[in-house]
Amino acid sequence: MCGIVCYCGNRKAVPVLMEGLRRLEYRGYDSAGFAVIDNTQGLVVEKKKGKVNALEQSSINKHYDASMGIAHTRWSTHGEPTTINAHPHKDCTGKICVIHNGIIENYSILKEELVKAGHHFISDTDTEVIAHLIEQYYKDDLELAVLMAVERLNGTFGLAVMHEDVKDSLIIVRRGSPVILGVGDGEMFAASDTNALSNYTNRMIYLQDDDIAIVKKDSYLIKNLRSEIQEREIHELNEIEADVDKAGFEHFMLKEIFEQPESIKNAFRGRLIQSEGVSKLGGLEPVMERLKKIRKIILISCGTSYYAGLFGRYIFEHLTDINIDVELASEFRYRKLKIDEDTAVLAISQSGETADTLAALKEAKRKGALILGIVNVVGSTIARITDAGVYNFAGPEIGVASTKIYTSQLVILTLIGVLIGRYQGLSYIEGASLVAALKKVPKQVEEILKTAPLIEKIAKKYSKFNDFLYIGRLYNYPTALEAALKLKEISYIHAEGYAAGEMKHGPISLIDKDFPTIAIAPDDLVLEKMLSNMQEIKARGGMILSVTNESAKDVIDMSDDNFIVPKTIDILQPILNIIPLQLFAYYVAKERGCDIDKPRNLAKSVTVE
Ligand code: F6R
Repeated sequence: MCGIVCYCGNRKAVPVLMEGLRRLEYRGYDSAGFAVIDNTQGLVVEKKKGKVNALEQSSINKHYDASMGIAHTRWSTHGEPTTINAHPHKDCTGKICVIHNGIIENYSILKEELVKAGHHFISDTDTEVIAHLIEQYYKDDLELAVLMAVERLNGTFGLAVMHEDVKDSLIIVRRGSPVILGVGDGEMFAASDTNALSNYTNRMIYLQDDDIAIVKKDSYLIKNLRSEIQEREIHELNEIEADVDKAGFEHFMLKEIFEQPESIKNAFRGRLIQSEGVSKLGGLEPVMERLKKIRKIILISCGTSYYAGLFGRYIFEHLTDINIDVELASEFRYRKLKIDEDTAVLAISQSGETADTLAALKEAKRKGALILGIVNVVGSTIARITDAGVYNFAGPEIGVASTKIYTSQLVILTLIGVLIGRYQGLSYIEGASLVAALKKVPKQVEEILKTAPLIEKIAKKYSKFNDFLYIGRLYNYPTALEAALKLKEISYIHAEGYAAGEMKHGPISLIDKDFPTIAIAPDDLVLEKMLSNMQEIKARGGMILSVTNESAKDVIDMSDDNFIVPKTIDILQPILNIIPLQLFAYYVAKERGCDIDKPRNLAKSVTVE
């Protein structure tokens, strides 16, 4: 999704902006641009379709003498991914320029009005409307003009505005799309996420909706739409939150897969009480009394986080007596659901900024539900608007395909399940054995990671196929969905996840020698049923690659290839089973020469509906 970086200080602005843009590349984008106020040329804009490198190459020899600027990576919503549509956008005078994340919903009405008033548009974007609107209101006060323009905008946005005649300040606005100020020593930054700034400062201010920040090199002022000054806390990020290096791995995705022993440990570190067979979640303590009385939990999320939610249903059903629903956030927000104060709505989100999840949460809040979050990005919007929640503490996830956060989400859902369950029917023995099993998981993940060379070899063999079916049952049905998503998003191979029991209701007609099946078939209580499904596939000439345990001899014998994973208790097995399938997707994509960390058309943080 679009990225914003801004700088105001004593350094040369262009290298700072370029470095920031590179650090935002993981979000996914199709064009990039920047604007600076050069000491001799005034306002200059450089933009380019394609990668940040292309932008850098086209401007590298121009040596702009500027210490203030704004920069952007664009992920197209309105208009094609072209150089003209790339940000920044200027007004008719060429003195005002704007970068923007989000969507202006009433842009066509505004555009019509502005065209009638004589403004000349050159792009197809909604963003250009903002530049012309500011021009319309500008007399000699940029802050006032921005304020007046913002009053007219419907939609979500993070904005940065610069004017050639205002040489010492930038105006930043937030409504719906995240913008962060970075506080340096005699210099200020702004960005759409902290990664862009983490090698310059660890002191961040999270702007809130309808904040307008006037940023100068050694000061900043934050106001609301009524021009009243707002106090905002400065957060100091720790090293884990700020670290975005590949640490010698070829891709962030691979690094993040290999970080899972640590990220899983971080998810439960200090949160397990073995002697009482329970978990302790400080983030939920303020709402614990209410949570104990909750009769229904609705899990809402998107994509991989939604599949974590599906796992959550099984785990909550197993550990608690509460009614559980799982909903796609994008559907939830438009449905007529029975929500009241006995309902908790738990959002699961890596970024904490996903537009649909955010909107669904707001809807739930309006209806009086207790709203909770499982979020990785500290200080993100979801983390801030929820009544209470649990952080993943997994460090930044840069690879667009989520890996370490998925397993971390499964762990945290388990912790919440145990916590609530122990106030209900879950016995000490069950709680304690689950806690003990969970503690062993990081070591078991390490064992799986050691088999990466074998997984790579098998992935090469399967990389020639263009269709895959993933099947699993019960706790591993979500594993099948998530594993299929991993393969399709980074290798562009058609992959479908199915509940194994659904095979004979349709998908089995697809099976032939060119349509392999990945069967997630651990040695658990539905093993016999899985074996029957696998038999049906074999009978139709289909190849089978299984994820299973050493003890499941029949699965091993029936499969063409196997990923053998250590055995844990049934409900935790999905945390282990997904690991070889993440690696499988990674190595297949690598074999096919795909851009693994930045798959086409995808964005890391989906801040538009
Ligand atoms: C897939 C993936 C996405 C996200 C989804 C929700 O690998 O990462 O499907 O899970 O866009 O994002 P968050 O968790 O940030 O709300």
